[in-house]
Amino acid sequence: MKVLIIGSGGREHALAWKIAQSAAVKNVYLAPGNGGTAGEQKCENLPDCTTAEAALAFARSKGIDLTVVGPEEPLAQGIVDRFRAAGLAIVGPAQRESALEASKDYAKAFMQRFGVRTAASRSFCDYKQAQAYVQSYLTTQSSVVIKADGLAAGKGVIIAEDLSTAQSALLSLMSVEATGSDAGKTVVIEEFLAGTEVSVLAAVSIVPGKAGVIVPFIAARDHKRRFDGGQGPNTGGMGAIAPVPDFSQAAYDDFLHAILEPTVYGMQQEGMDYRGFIFFGLMIQENRCYLLEYNVRLGDPETQTVLPLLESDMVSLCSAILDGSLATFPLVWKAGAVCTVVAVADGYPGPYRRGELITLEREKLIHTGAIPFMAGTYTKNGNLYTNGGRVCAVSAWDSSPQGAREKAYSGITAVNFTGMQYRTDIGAY
Ligand code: AMP
Ligand code: GLY
Repeated sequence: MKVLIIGSGGREHALAWKIAQSAAVKNVYLAPGNGGTAGEQKCENLPDCTTAEAALAFARSKGIDLTVVGPEEPLAQGIVDRFRAAGLAIVGPAQRESALEASKDYAKAFMQRFGVRTAASRSFCDYKQAQAYVQSYLTTQSSVVIKADGLAAGKGVIIAEDLSTAQSALLSLMSVEATGSDAGKTVVIEEFLAGTEVSVLAAVSIVPGKAGVIVPFIAARDHKRRFDGGQGPNTGGMGAIAPVPDFSQAAYDDFLHAILEPTVYGMQQEGMDYRGFIFFGLMIQENRCYLLEYNVRLGDPETQTVLPLLESDMVSLCSAILDGSLATFPLVWKAGAVCTVVAVADGYPGPYRRGELITLEREKLIHTGAIPFMAGTYTKNGNLYTNGGRVCAVSAWDSSPQGAREKAYSGITAVNFTGMQYRTDIGAY
């Protein structure tokens, strides 16, 4: 069997690593892949394959049996629609369903329509009205959350505690000149929710006319802020732990009842054909879950944390998603915990240097049992170089969360490049 994976991040490296373990898989191709996937067993990078057209042409000519899409951009641009139209098996939602991530306004309207518990919000496309609304809102509330409607690579959410911050957020998100894209035109203004965050990734098989199902994976906690103690700017994710020690059974039951079940119902009512993965970004307040957002894909770095806990075969899981048998698929998880620490380039999430030589002390990695998943990297003449802000994630399993943390932190010292930085408190809370 030949599998094609779309994307180039750490999540895609973890997907490739897991998919390559399937006995049925002979080749894994990555479009375009990264410096880590280049050396993974059974894997081959397609560096020139960076568009949906190129991926489709490759899948046709190579006789690809299964395609899995990692990131949100190709999903929002309709790569799944193209593959489906060509009769090719692909895991991921079509363009219409991808609006659950690509448009926060659409997602909030969906949540409100079907009673998925979420922060109260209003959407605006008129700057003056939005400004008047935040001004009156902040006379009674101490903070407000302002979100760009479209995909904004994690930069579209501003939490404002005063009027001038809120006003400059509105200006930067709503002026097309400032954002250079449609992402800035509509904003969602919502109530600020305090609490602890949890990410639940899940497999989705909702097919019109069939009994649909969403099967949650083990919950994970991403650490989004750049610095220890949750300080500093938001990033794509500095590390994660799974399972989440403080995500109680009561909170999980509430998630099923208040968020997952109405989502399944809503998708069916809307006649969606959704065969892929979904990511529930949750805020938990005293065992009550609120949905901050849907992502229509797996999370990064949560995937690097959760997949090493998955015992089940990934290709069989993908087949069950596609053929409608997910409800009876035996999803088996390893006991214990996985901690993932992300090494980033100095300066990230601001400007940073690329092209630094990366060395990996393989012996040390083998000794700790830690798995390196590469992100922003490339290979040249057999060497590995940095090529992005998030460079490498190291994931380690242990029977206890504390042991997983220790192994991940020991593993990350096997990775070296000039300017390398990481948080020291991943999984500590
Ligand atoms: P989102 O892209 O909607 O997940 O937002 C990114 C991050 O902003 C989340 O992970 C939260 O840390 C924060 N956030 C988003 N919405 C809210 C909210 N209503 N209240 C508090 N924090 C929020
Ligand atoms: N870890 C958050 C995300 O993948 O969007």
